[in-house]
Amino acid sequence: MQVLLIGAGARENALAARLLESPGLGKLYWLPGNAALEGRVSKVRDIDPCDGPGIATWAQRQAIDLAVIGPEAPLLAGVSDCLEEVGVPCFGPSRAAARLEGSKAFAKDLLAQAGIPTAKYVKVSGAQEALEALENWGAPVVIKADGLAAGKGVTVAMTQEEARKAAEELTGPAVIEEYLEGKELSFMVLAQGQEYVPLAPSRDHKRAGDGDTGPNTGGMGALAGFGLISQGLQQEISCKIIKPTLAAMAKLGTPYKGVLYAGLMLTAQGPKVLEFNVRFGDPETQAILQLWEDDLLEVLNTIARGGVPKGLLWSRDWAVSLVLASGGYPGSFETGYKIQGLEEALEYALVYQAGTKLTQGEIVTAAGRVITLAAKGSLELAREKVYAAASKIHFPGIHYRRDI
Ligand code: AMP
Ligand code: GLY
Repeated sequence: MQVLLIGAGARENALAARLLESPGLGKLYWLPGNAALEGRVSKVRDIDPCDGPGIATWAQRQAIDLAVIGPEAPLLAGVSDCLEEVGVPCFGPSRAAARLEGSKAFAKDLLAQAGIPTAKYVKVSGAQEALEALENWGAPVVIKADGLAAGKGVTVAMTQEEARKAAEELTGPAVIEEYLEGKELSFMVLAQGQEYVPLAPSRDHKRAGDGDTGPNTGGMGALAGFGLISQGLQQEISCKIIKPTLAAMAKLGTPYKGVLYAGLMLTAQGPKVLEFNVRFGDPETQAILQLWEDDLLEVLNTIARGGVPKGLLWSRDWAVSLVLASGGYPGSFETGYKIQGLEEALEYALVYQAGTKLTQGEIVTAAGRVITLAAKGSLELAREKVYAAASKIHFPGIHYRRDI
């Protein structure tokens, strides 16, 4: 099969590495890709990842058999609709279904109408309305800008002053919601309409600093494994959250296809939805893939063509992923630094590149999240492996959490 993979993160590097292991793979095209897998995949650099018509024309010409879309932006731009219109099966939801991630207001309304547990909320049109609405909320309180923000459009305000500051900075519609307390959980399923199979549960570490301090990021590291939650809780999440969400999407005439990612807070009153994503989590997926034993190409192709796998094969180990970031991320940071030790790190863990590029034959930093390391074993061993790998990698300003 000729496969097109869209995206440029460590998640896509991990997906690409697994697709390359599949006996069914002919050629893998990666649009736009990063500095990883040079010579093993064909990188497509002359098309914008959100240019649906351009990608569809190109895919038809290359006789692509399957497209896999990693990030949310192309999904929200309707790239999967454009590909399917020209007969290229696509792993990833339609533009209409991608609103579950693209609009916090759409997702919250759907949750409320379907009676799915989530934080109480109010929608506001902008800064002024937000400031007025905040009069009725104490602190802590959460302010979420509508639209895509790469995990950074959310302020968890611990004081009313912080909340007012976040409200003042809004430049468009937002949701103000109740602060939920508990442990977070990322629960992903592969869905087709109202049918689905779950992936191993995982837990991201969203804050930049150890002990969950500092600003929210796209994710600094994750644990994955069935030991994270009980079977009873998994059942509860399926019945109270996943099934009704898929049913609501079908009822709206926008049936879901692809990965549905429910970001949950496990509160004392049970699991509640914090957010939906319409794609694989990053860096959760880099960990989950270590445990997932199926032929990835076969599974993604089955979904893309309208089916659902009967079940998935899982290792009962734990897996850990660790993000190595540029100093200053998620604020401002410098790029263009040479990355050393990538080969040495491979002795301990898998090394996936995110924000990297090739400059004069050298791999240099090119974004906030630079590398994800991933390993499996017992929880302790998996952690040891990723931190041993991290100690081998160097670039100026390297920053990573020590407590994944
Ligand atoms: P979101 O993009 O909606 O997942 O928000 C990013 C992060 O902000 C989440 O992973 C949580 O850590 C935090 N967060 C979001 N909503 C809430 C909430 N209602 N209560 C507490 N923390 C929240
Ligand atoms: N790790 C969080 C996300 O993928 O949105």
